Amino acid sequence: MDMLKGSLFELLGTFALIFLVHAQDQSGFISIDCGISEDSSYTDQVTGIYYTSDATFIDTGISNSISPEFKTNSLPQQLWNVRSFPEGINNCYTLRPARGRGNKYLIRAQFMYGNYDAKNQLPEFDLILGVNMLESVQLDNASSVISKEIIHVLSSDYIYVCLVNTDSGIPFISALELRLLDNSMYETQSGSLVRYARWDFGSPYELIRFKDDNCDRFWFPYNSGEWKMLNTSRTIDTDDDNKLQLTSIVMSTAVKPLNTMEPLKFSWESTDPTSKFYIYLYFAEVEELQLNESREFNIFLNGNLWHGPLTPESFEATAMYRISSSISEKFEFSIYKTNSSTLPPIINALEVYLVKQLLQSQTDQKDVDAIMNIKSLYGVKKNWQGDPCAPENYSWEGLNCSYNDYNPPRIISLNLSSSRLTGNITPYISNLTLLQSLDLSQNGLNGPIPDFLSQLPLLRSLLDNYFMMPSVLSWEERLRIATDAAQGLDYLHDGCKPSIIHRDIKSTNILLNERFQAKLADFGLSRAFPIEGSSHVSTAVVGTPGYLDPELTEKSDVFSFGVVLLEIITSQPAISKDREKTHIIEWVSCMLANGDIKNTVDPRLQGEFDINSAWKAVEVAMCCVSPTSTERPAMHYVVMELKQCLEMEASQKEGHEPESKDSIGITTEDQSTEIIPLAR
Ligand SMILES: *[C@@H]1O[C@H](CO)[C@@H](O)[C@H](O)[C@H]1NC(C)=O
Ligand SMILES: *[C@@H]1O[C@H](CO)[C@@H](O)[C@H](O)[C@H]1NC(C)=O
Ligand SMILES: *[C@@H]1O[C@H](CO)[C@@H](O)[C@H](O)[C@H]1NC(C)=O
Ligand SMILES: *[C@@H]1O[C@H](CO)[C@@H](O)[C@H](O)[C@H]1NC(C)=O
Ligand SMILES: *[C@@H]1O[C@H](CO)[C@@H](O)[C@H](O)[C@H]1NC(C)=O
Ligand SMILES: *[C@@H]1O[C@H](CO)[C@@H](O)[C@H](O)[C@H]1NC(C)=O
Ligand SMILES: *[C@@H]1O[C@H](CO)[C@@H](O)[C@H](O)[C@H]1NC(C)=O
Ligand SMILES: *[C@@H]1O[C@H](CO)[C@@H](O)[C@H](O)[C@H]1NC(C)=O
Repeated sequence: MDMLKGSLFELLGTFALIFLVHAQDQSGFISIDCGISEDSSYTDQVTGIYYTSDATFIDTGISNSISPEFKTNSLPQQLWNVRSFPEGINNCYTLRPARGRGNKYLIRAQFMYGNYDAKNQLPEFDLILGVNMLESVQLDNASSVISKEIIHVLSSDYIYVCLVNTDSGIPFISALELRLLDNSMYETQSGSLVRYARWDFGSPYELIRFKDDNCDRFWFPYNSGEWKMLNTSRTIDTDDDNKLQLTSIVMSTAVKPLNTMEPLKFSWESTDPTSKFYIYLYFAEVEELQLNESREFNIFLNGNLWHGPLTPESFEATAMYRISSSISEKFEFSIYKTNSSTLPPIINALEVYLVKQLLQSQTDQKDVDAIMNIKSLYGVKKNWQGDPCAPENYSWEGLNCSYNDYNPPRIISLNLSSSRLTGNITPYISNLTLLQSLDLSQNGLNGPIPDFLSQLPLLRSLLDNYFMMPSVLSWEERLRIATDAAQGLDYLHDGCKPSIIHRDIKSTNILLNERFQAKLADFGLSRAFPIEGSSHVSTAVVGTPGYLDPELTEKSDVFSFGVVLLEIITSQPAISKDREKTHIIEWVSCMLANGDIKNTVDPRLQGEFDINSAWKAVEVAMCCVSPTSTERPAMHYVVMELKQCLEMEASQKEGHEPESKDSIGITTEDQSTEIIPLAR
């Protein structure tokens, strides 16, 4: 027993030691083997990199092993398994590196099909890094290994890596790797860098990466029959270009033309002629030169001198890099020795990065927080992964966003109908401050429609009707609701002894009929109240009688009622920043100044109302909102006027065509004198 304890202790000690060593070397690394069993991890035999399962970084997808015939001895272990995504269009990993926002990372995704699904059919799909399309993943054959890399500065503390189904097979992924870089490495004016090429000239190795390369860059061998491979066993001094963290083993091999009089030539084609490249060329003298020998050359790109003359330092790395100044379809380098040089040109390594202007930013953080809270609170069963709004055209199902080149996208509509939501309506919704449309219908929600929804300045459609907005309330229905509310308020003011001043009249404080109350207690008369047929309306008593000047406070209620009446008439919110006239009173005044009654009344009524009745209702409302309290009518006068509006509407329906006022552009000023209330 003691022995066992002892050996266990030793074993644990060893593990701890291994972990410490790796933690030191690989701090800033996240190394994920996709598709291995949950909670498993291992240290790669070749690289010493510590890989963990992807299970904690993603909720979806299934684990698969590649077909045994592809599992060769030389195949890196990370490629033995894959995670595939048969469900959903968009599946995303969420990575939260220890050092987040503002830090530069090399992010790499690897793919090898290996006939994991026994279908022998290569899929094609898209890879999204963060909120921007990286590119499409196309495999040559079942054993080819594709790796996509980007060097990117994080704009938040997390990063999404998403696989998008493009209807050409099931997306999958083999490995996902994040490598923290020094921010001074690979500096760009703007944009991120997608690896286009990273060549190690003259290399006899299949691939060079960690631990040879501290940053775990993948260096691929690049050779040609027209070149002679050179190498040295001496260490190349890379300190001079410490900024690029060059690797001695990469720099210790080079190529030169077989025919010493010929230039060294290499080229690549651009798949997107509008794209720009950052080009890095690396040189180091790897031969011991005699006193009578010299090496000097000029570097030309597409026939123009790019740099030169250059003499590589003896066993010391030199980097030449710049952004391609011209947009071109083909990039052709020719390196010519100068006339005085006795030796041909050489080159040791090259990197080419495509500049990706990651213009689209992530969704506004407050919106993200709010929607994440909503998602987790209700356990929303939708494929809500990655960024809610970005990339554009990939926003989450059930929401729409506004996009603007420079500002983060914002959520402007949310449709959670038939989403099996239960419980109350969460205040998190009110943190989506640009919300214009909300649909919570067909759910098991209960409790009141909260007041905070009325404070969302832009919220126009509140389809929280659990039964049937949705039909637009008719003009007659609106008048009835308004009349009932006015009667309720009149009763408070005049019918009660002492009279009650409400002091908080607003659309959400007006409760609708008994029938709805049973289920929708406190249902507010919001801009989209879902009402059918006639409704009894009562006002909720918030105010208490007191010693306040009754005249003044009563008239405050009248003012508030006027605003509510305008809302009922127009279906416009009281305050809206997306109108030129922010306040509804200014807006209506402006409409009326143009004599435009048709568009003042909710246009969804499509003119289905008596025009005189509409004029009268608007005039009463404008009278109620007079800036001077003494000019505001008493509620019993308002009730009378509204009843007349109802009669006008009814008589028009019965076919009595009342005299039309349509063409008369009556301004509110004219009218206010006409219906000055009688003193009581
Ligand atoms: C698979 O494709 C790669 C290129 O991606 C190629 O080098 C290799 O020879 C191909 N293998 C087979 C078996 O066709
Ligand atoms: C270095 O070059 C020599 C001579 O060409 C060759 O034999 C050797 O394999 C090379 N070694 C490496 C690591 O490239
Ligand atoms: C340099 O000198 C050596 C003898 O020391 C000779 O063999 C060689 O050809 C000379 N090279 C050139 C380029 O003159
Ligand atoms: C190099 O030599 C070539 C051919 O002899 C000649 O045309 C050219 O002008 C020379 N270049 C320089 C810079 O001397
Ligand atoms: C989104 O889709 C629309 C319509 O298909 C297209 O015009 C627009 O360019 C797309 N936006 C992006 C960022 O791809
Ligand atoms: C989002 O916009 C599309 C296209 O305009 C529309 O069909 C859809 O209903 C909108 N979704 C929401 C939640 O508003
Ligand atoms: C919300 O989505 C449902 C279907 O899921 C649709 O019937 C309804 O019209 C949508 N609501 C809005 C406001 O677009
Ligand atoms: C809404 O946002 C504010 C400020 O960003 C935050 O303090 C508050 O907790 C949020 N409320 C909810 C309900 O998420």
